[in-house]
Amino acid sequence: MAFDVIIGAQWGDEGKAKIIDFLGKNADGIVRYQGGANAGHTVILDGKKFVFHLIPSGILNPEVKCFIGNGVVFDIEEFFKELEQLENFGIDYRGRIMVSYQAHLIMPYHKRMDILREEERKEKIGTTKRGIGPCYSDKFSRFGIRVGDIFSSNLKERIETNLERINYLLSNYYKKEQMDVDEVFDFIEGYKEKLRPFVGNTVYALNSMLKNNKNIIAEGAQGLGLDIDFGTYPFVTSSNPSIGGAITGTGINPFYVNKVYGIAKAYTTRVGAGPFPTELFDKIGDYLQKEGGEFGATTGRPRRCGWLDLFMLKYSTLVNGFTDIVLTKIDVLDGLKEINICIGYEYNGSTLNEFPFSSEVLENVKPIYKSFRGWERTKGIKDFNQLPVNAKDYIKFIEDYLEASVSIISTGPDRNDTIVR
Ligand code: GDP
Ligand code: IMO
Ligand code: MG
Repeated sequence: MAFDVIIGAQWGDEGKAKIIDFLGKNADGIVRYQGGANAGHTVILDGKKFVFHLIPSGILNPEVKCFIGNGVVFDIEEFFKELEQLENFGIDYRGRIMVSYQAHLIMPYHKRMDILREEERKEKIGTTKRGIGPCYSDKFSRFGIRVGDIFSSNLKERIETNLERINYLLSNYYKKEQMDVDEVFDFIEGYKEKLRPFVGNTVYALNSMLKNNKNIIAEGAQGLGLDIDFGTYPFVTSSNPSIGGAITGTGINPFYVNKVYGIAKAYTTRVGAGPFPTELFDKIGDYLQKEGGEFGATTGRPRRCGWLDLFMLKYSTLVNGFTDIVLTKIDVLDGLKEINICIGYEYNGSTLNEFPFSSEVLENVKPIYKSFRGWERTKGIKDFNQLPVNAKDYIKFIEDYLEASVSIISTGPDRNDTIVR
């Protein structure tokens, strides 16, 4: 019996899905606990590529049950699109997916407001336009509509109440076309019967699996750097990818928590706006983008690339209590002559002891680098002993700095390109 949590340690896209799919072999259940269809989780299996936005990445393991927890913001249209994708690939998902009654629904007006709010901002965040911020705002201001509400008799009334306020804003503030209550209602209501077999009380289901000695993995979306509390606010998402989110977003009793895996790329990427101290604007940045295929799985935007930032990762480890670090995409560094790791920040002439909470400060820090010699090839290696000495040194340094063990190393996108120590 174990509840293991998988968390993005950087700014998202660390390769969480590959690791969830890999560890999913030994799991009985996988649960998404926060975020929504802003996530883009890629799994490569037998040369086929699967991109999940909402359905847990463990679904490709035929015995695993998948859950969408209460902390997720649920995009009903995207959900059925993904089921179709599974169907096309011949993956049998029937009886294996449960969506929480308590997850909040992304409504068409949330997506509309996401776009309008972004347009009006001076400091653009570069959201995925999936309605995430507006949906969580409604949740916390208690105007939200939950998955379970689709089956209640007052759904239309709730939509009407919300649209009254939104339509006022649309015409008077944004000077845009209003939204029609019937249209929104019909859109959601249209999914009611299709959705019915998938919904359930995930809190009871998950806790009872754990009580019965089953293994559950929590699948984080995004990463610590995008956390609404601990990330680079306001350039963040609207949920808690960090460890607390795995508890509040599932209702799993915290005493079940066993391992907390921090997934970190061997370098750093970020998509969207916001501070990124180790970002590279030179040929090496381009090289990482090209070799790493660093383009967003949700929006297709190019990801910004830079050196590994251990100062940031140490903060991430502090907040999340990582028991294990999973280092991914080390093969992308293959062939570089020199590789840098950021081990601290300088700001106004002095060295910082703490990761700054202010994005303004973070925009102006100067990374302090330690340089490492590169290596020829790690791609596809499955045994730690076969890694080049310089790659081992790189990993050893990361472990010493973070005071955490790097227990899994990913050397390629395929499930099999994985070293477990
Ligand atoms: P996630 O959002 O954290 O699940 O990560 P994404 O799926 O958005 O992005 C990770 C990308 O890197 C995907 O295209 C993966 O197929 C790929 N990937 C994962 N692990 C490795 C690895 O070890 N090496 C290489 N070259 N690619 C990897
Ligand atoms: P996965 O799970 C990387 C970023 C967006 C934007 C900010 C806010 O694949 O790692 P939002 O739409 O959430 O309001 O956008 O967060 N972002 C991600 N970046 N990976 C993700 O997910 C992301 N989900 C959101 O680019 O900067
Ligand atoms: Mg991603």
